[in-house]
Amino acid sequence: MGASSALVTGASSGIGREFARALAARGHDVVLVARRRDRLEELATELAATGVRAEPLVADLASDEGLALVERRVASARDLAVLVNNAGFADIGPFAEQHADRAEASVRVLVLAPVRLTRAALPVFRERGGGAVIQVSSRAAFGARRDLATYGAAKAYLHRFSLALADELEGTGIDVLSVCPGNVWTEFFERAGLEPDAIRSALEPEQVVAEALTALDRGERVCVPGERARDRVLRRLLPDRLLAKLAAVSGRLAGF
Ligand SMILES: NC(=O)c1ccc[n+]([C@@H]2O[C@H](COP(=O)([O-])OP(=O)(O)OC[C@H]3O[C@@H](n4cnc5c(N)ncnc54)[C@H](OP(=O)(O)O)[C@@H]3O)[C@@H](O)[C@H]2O)c1
Repeated sequence: MGASSALVTGASSGIGREFARALAARGHDVVLVARRRDRLEELATELAATGVRAEPLVADLASDEGLALVERRVASARDLAVLVNNAGFADIGPFAEQHADRAEASVRVLVLAPVRLTRAALPVFRERGGGAVIQVSSRAAFGARRDLATYGAAKAYLHRFSLALADELEGTGIDVLSVCPGNVWTEFFERAGLEPDAIRSALEPEQVVAEALTALDRGERVCVPGERARDRVLRRLLPDRLLAKLAAVSGRLAGF
């Protein structure tokens, strides 16, 4: 049995599933949050076989009840060491054509849920004398992106929120990391309605998670998995608008 626990949202596939596996491998008990019960139960069985406790927690983070359920679970997890706010989805296309309910759901899942769950985790971390929040943002956070208006803005919110919080919590033993991947091979594109050939290149979720956990161990506040040194310099120097244009021409839809 692990000595401390981690809660991962969006653990039923992709990046979240890999975070759950990697955190279990580090000895944490894991709470696995998503809507697809069968996927969570399958993962819980896999992880339990490695000797940690793995608990599926079925919740729709776009709903008030689902978010409240997970929030209560976070607040009552006295041994919580790591919170990973990862659940997410994207709608691609002009905002005027996005269904209003989907637009609201994207703000709920990508912004409201991380804010409320982070807020719920802080008293637990304070009580324990430390902890970590990993916010899975995106490279889309770095520039205003047409056809990704709600998604890009939500990821920008999460990124800035994460940076500000890391500053506020400096020296408290509570780390906050914003992870900003570009394209990653997961179910994300298919669920966004994109053909796989619309994507030129992408990282594997295992690499994203390995780089994120290394960055967390080093006390870094931002991790852009797979980023080349040249791109790091450009990101720091160029205005957001130009960065968004470059992302659009260099990789079609590069940088979710
Ligand atoms: N793939 C990329 O290129 C990429 C790039 C940058 C950032 N990201 C970010 O990485 C995160 C994980 O995405 P992924 O690539 O791993 O995609 P994915 O394979 O589609 O996984 C998304 C996860 O979010 C969960 N989720 C979605 N809506 C939810 C809701 N309403 N309530 C609870 N859980 C919900 C899904 O579970 P259920 O459907 O079972 O609920 C699933 O576990 C997202 O925040 C995404 O924005 C992805």
